[in-house]
Amino acid sequence: MALVNLGGLLHHALKHGYGVGAFNVPDYETLQAILDVAVEKRSPVILDVAEVHLKYIDLEEVAYVARRAAERAPVPVALHLDHGETFETIVRAIRAGFTSVMFDGSRLPYEENVARTREIVRICHACGVTVEAELGRVLGGEGTRERFEADPSLFTDPDQAVDFVRRTGVDALAIAFGTAHGLYRGTPKLDFPRLEEIARRTRIPLVLHGGTGVADEDFRRAIALGIAKINYYTQLSLAGIEGIRRALEEDPEIGSYPLLLQKARESIRAVVRHQMEVFGSAGVCDRFPDLCVACEQCFPSSEPIEEPRPCELSTPEAPSERLSEPQLRQLVERVMRAVLEELPRRNGPA
Ligand code: 13P
Repeated sequence: MALVNLGGLLHHALKHGYGVGAFNVPDYETLQAILDVAVEKRSPVILDVAEVHLKYIDLEEVAYVARRAAERAPVPVALHLDHGETFETIVRAIRAGFTSVMFDGSRLPYEENVARTREIVRICHACGVTVEAELGRVLGGEGTRERFEADPSLFTDPDQAVDFVRRTGVDALAIAFGTAHGLYRGTPKLDFPRLEEIARRTRIPLVLHGGTGVADEDFRRAIALGIAKINYYTQLSLAGIEGIRRALEEDPEIGSYPLLLQKARESIRAVVRHQMEVFGSAGVCDRFPDLCVACEQCFPSSEPIEEPRPCELSTPEAPSERLSEPQLRQLVERVMRAVLEELPRRNGPA
């Protein structure tokens, strides 16, 4: 059983100076390619299911398949909702068995982002699910050939980051410091002093979005300064297309659709392999053979967290808000109500 949430995974990465790749999963081929390489490279990995990709895959179905595959993989795997924007999607993800979620309130006014993130954190923590939030704004759009650049006026403010982490209790924070989703217009210039200050003052694992197009050296420097999770997608998508293009050029008469998909999978694997080497996560499971066991001890199941468990992988400085018994009950009731209201809507009339 290697399904874990972000808690132990990212604190371990932070402590030991490597980054965990969070690769988007818009289809089954990509899912398999990512897991194949994680197992081959003995690397922890995060399967990122983005809300924008729910037009390609069903949240509950992909969760079922991903959980099953992850449980069989002998490396730690987190199943994470990427850029969740609505309360309903977050609740569906919890119910479907995601081990962590991102609530992206970066478009909201600051106080609203704090209030909504805080509410999501309370609900998720009551269910044993970890939460990533975003502060500042990482622009762009992944998965196409369109080019974007970062806007320094939207970079994360360090003072605000400290306040945000303290008031919300998030487990990981996505920050804007020079990256953008999708391909870059020009060369990305990362604001390392800003990253260093936010990492030093918040002391929680930070997340880099918009990994495609960032130079290997910049990744290494960002990880050394406090980035523990790296979101990476567009290059996987382009590699899949390239694999298919090459296969069709080599054999225009190819008659096997699954074989064609295999070619896409091979190309995606090559990109994931390279990135895991660059992030330093390759070989981590050999360096720390009890990693899965340790993570399971932190977060053994999706039951509510009742007592904090002593764990060498968690930092005592990480803010966490304990809920009283009535508060906890109230939250669980609220989630159950939301789930029950959602069910008839999704399933149609009984
Ligand atoms: P890229 O597509 O630019 O690699 O970014 C992916 C991402 O940040 C998903 O959240």
